[in-house]
Amino acid sequence: MASSVTVIGHPLIQHKLTLMRRAETSTAKFRLLMTEISMLLAYEVTRDLPLKYESINTPLCLMNAPVLASDKKLVIVSIMRAGQGILDGMLQLMPSARVGHIGLYREPTTLEPVEYYFKVPHDIQERDMIVVDPMVATGNSAAAAVQRLKEINPRSLKLVCLLAAPEGISNFHEQHPDVPIFTAAIDEKLDEHGYIVPGLGDAGDRLFGTK
Ligand code: URA
Repeated sequence: MASSVTVIGHPLIQHKLTLMRRAETSTAKFRLLMTEISMLLAYEVTRDLPLKYESINTPLCLMNAPVLASDKKLVIVSIMRAGQGILDGMLQLMPSARVGHIGLYREPTTLEPVEYYFKVPHDIQERDMIVVDPMVATGNSAAAAVQRLKEINPRSLKLVCLLAAPEGISNFHEQHPDVPIFTAAIDEKLDEHGYIVPGLGDAGDRLFGTK
C-alpha cells in the first residue's frame, strides 16, 4: 500500500504553529495554541468519516438529516505525555470519542522507545483509531505505538502530529506504509540529540512547564 503524508497547510494552523515555535511563548499560551491547532487537525483528519441519514423533526418539518454513520465511536490514542495536548483539543470537537493511552519514553542514548503504560478500550476491532503525538522525530515512538495497536487489530489507524522530521516519516512509513500521517509541517532535520530542527523544543516540557 502507498504511504501517505498530508501536510495541513491551512493559514490558521500555520500561524498558530509559528506562535508555538517562538521560544518566548508562555506555557499557558503554548497549551492554548496546541488545543486550538488540534481542533483544526481533527477537522481535517475526520474528513472521510462516513455519514448516514436519520429522520428528525426540525421546528418546521420532518427532514432526513446526516449524522456520523459509525455506531462504534472513534478512539483517540495519546502517546504520553505530549500527546495529551492534541488529545485535549480533539476531545473538545469529538467529546464522545473513546480514549487510549500509551506510555513510551525515549531511552536517551539509543533514542529507542520503551513502553511503560498501555490502556485502550477493549472492543477495538470495529473502531477507527487516531494516534496522536505532537513530534514525530525519529519516528520510533510512533512506530512502536502503532505496532502495539496493530496487535489488537483496530479497523483503521491514522497518525496525527504537529511537526515531523523527514527521517521520522521515512522510518515510520518503512514500518507502517499502510498508516497515513497528518502533520501541520515537515521540518528540516533532526539534530544529534534527536530534536526536530527548527522545531519547537520539547513539546512535553513546553506543554507542562517542566523545563
Ligand atoms: N520530542 C520533542 O518534544 N521535541 C523534539 O524536537 C523531538 C522529540
